[in-house]
Amino acid sequence: MTLNFAHRGSLTEAPENTIPAFQKAIDSGARAIELDIQLTKDNELIVCHDHKFSRFNKEVKGQIKDYTLEEIKKIDIGASFSTDSKGITLPTLNEVLAICPKNLIINIEIKNIPVIYDGIEEILLHCLWDNERFYNVFISSFDHIALKHIQELTTKIPLGMLFHYRLLNTWEYVKNSGLNITSIHPNHVYVDRSFVKSCKEYGFEVYPYTVNSIERYEELVDFGVDGVFSNNPRIFV
Ligand code: G3P
Ligand code: CA
Repeated sequence: MTLNFAHRGSLTEAPENTIPAFQKAIDSGARAIELDIQLTKDNELIVCHDHKFSRFNKEVKGQIKDYTLEEIKKIDIGASFSTDSKGITLPTLNEVLAICPKNLIINIEIKNIPVIYDGIEEILLHCLWDNERFYNVFISSFDHIALKHIQELTTKIPLGMLFHYRLLNTWEYVKNSGLNITSIHPNHVYVDRSFVKSCKEYGFEVYPYTVNSIERYEELVDFGVDGVFSNNPRIFV
């Protein structure tokens, strides 16, 4: 059985990476969710994909890192999605964890490129420990140095390595990275049968992103992937 992640929550039904989006995914029966984390100016963990606000609220200049949590909590990011969503704000990771059932699997992606958040790894682990969320969590990142920092702090949480572009022999890079990686998270566009076969031979699970077409999903399942990240509730439920 594949493990499919509701990508940024159920982002076709509510503003991405918000409490309503995660609640919709949970209510519709998703087994797993994916979310992105960054740090506010006062070092609080906030859940958001983009470094800038412009896609959600064109009036807000600058980046997440330029605002305190108190300031971010006054920024509407829902109205750009729908009039009904007006007033929705970005959640903290604490707020998202509070609504997640114990059996929900959570992929937390550290968004550390192009802004690099020094110390985000320690802050994330403190947050997980405070919430007693030591289980059913994966941590992933395109920033493999961030994964190294996590591994230096704990070996209890499975790590997923994200790849946007094709590499020569990705699985060998992962094997030789010095990291104890559980899963490879490649951009789905270049994943084929031989890519999945090689990853498996090296002992890695494979979770491509972001797979929204049912036909492509079925093809990837046939190749042997362990699951996908998807915006499509027909795939992640
Ligand atoms: O973790 C899978 C996927 O979310 C990575 O890409 O840009 O959607 O965060 P992005
Ligand atoms: Ca992500």
